[in-house]
Amino acid sequence: MNSKLLTMDEIERDFMVSRKTGFLIDCSKLCEDALMLPKEKCKLLKLHTVLSFITAGYVWQDGGQCAAQRLPSCLAVPLVKVSDALGMKPVISYPSMMLSNWRILNVDEEFEVRNLVPIYTTPGGSGADVFILTHVVVEHRFGPAIKSIIEAIGYTHQRGTHHDQLLIQTLSVIPQVMNKMVVIFQNIKDGLAPNFYYDRLRIFYSGWGLGNTSLPNGLIYEGVQDSPLMMRGGSAAQSCTLQMLDAAFGIVHSEDEQKYLDEVRGYMLQEHRDLYDYIKDRSRIREYVESSFNESVKESYNACIMAIQGFRRHHITKAYEYITQPAKRPDRNNCVEFIRDKGTGGAGYIKFLNRIRRNTALSKLPSEHIATTKNPATKESVLNQRDQN
Ligand code: HEM
Repeated sequence: MNSKLLTMDEIERDFMVSRKTGFLIDCSKLCEDALMLPKEKCKLLKLHTVLSFITAGYVWQDGGQCAAQRLPSCLAVPLVKVSDALGMKPVISYPSMMLSNWRILNVDEEFEVRNLVPIYTTPGGSGADVFILTHVVVEHRFGPAIKSIIEAIGYTHQRGTHHDQLLIQTLSVIPQVMNKMVVIFQNIKDGLAPNFYYDRLRIFYSGWGLGNTSLPNGLIYEGVQDSPLMMRGGSAAQSCTLQMLDAAFGIVHSEDEQKYLDEVRGYMLQEHRDLYDYIKDRSRIREYVESSFNESVKESYNACIMAIQGFRRHHITKAYEYITQPAKRPDRNNCVEFIRDKGTGGAGYIKFLNRIRRNTALSKLPSEHIATTKNPATKESVLNQRDQN
């Protein structure tokens, strides 16, 4: 394994991230005339956005009971070609529906929902736009966390009082970032009504097969292959943000949840998957803190864990507000019954999100752990500790 550490400049160059906008990709300046399969990534992403949104409309516009079973070759073939070129899946997915699907109205004003428009959207007017743009702005707020994590990894590859101070300083960015993400997320309620999201919007982000009871066997992509393809729908579970934090801080999830998170990395951009792998391979942050006798180092690590846990706790309240509560109404839209107890990414979400949040909280290091642990925690030791709780 190559254990070379990269500088932030190299990270930006190699992994399609930016210290300013994080995983967001600014595709707004491209011309619209791409008739041939273009080479540049942004053009491919734009094509993926357009083709995958049209596909979602084609499949779901008449509701779950009337979902199309076959995708015509005029859509299926280019969607698969573009997806292959990007290393993505031929279905509506996070990088093209959120990360690159925005345009700023006034560059001199703040990067806020009201100063952005989605390039492509679903039916439903401003509520549909706010859904996309909230994700875009949440991703934007994450930007500084990338630099902080890269720096923290660098500092924890060597030990020393000086490194402790640098580590504490750079880790202090993470709780600030997570709090900003929560604030943006909270504001979603001002532009997106839960009943509209439940009844009208989220069906367009659904997938096929993989537990989807409306298209249990998947969707036939005509001109691509005769047997149906199974795909997860678009979900922020395909965002690299939280997975990157898990990898950096050594947060360990239980087997089922980790299996799902591993699977949905297949819906990220290849460069973002590579960055995840880079961080997973290189991060020694947890080991460094565990074997440190500096209480302040441990406190700053735990503050990060609690902030990540705080975001996940808030996220669960949103899932409750936007899925669980509207699903209880007698007058709910019956055409979306097939995803009543599922996220758009197909997870049986209540248990899933709760366990992910709980395991994040359990990653907090107890005081005595620092003083007594000689060896770095293994995945097994963390999970054993969990089983005893
Ligand atoms: C109305 C808004 C939202 C709802 C109802 C919602 C709901 C869900 C659901 C049900 C899942 C389970 C996976 C699936 O099947 O899709 C999930 C996963 C996830 N969502 Fe959201 N979500 C919302 C917005 C967001 C936003 C704005 C973010 C921030 C980027 C986000 C980040 C995540 C992450 C990272 C996961 C994976 C679980 C984790 O790592 O904690 N979600 N979401």
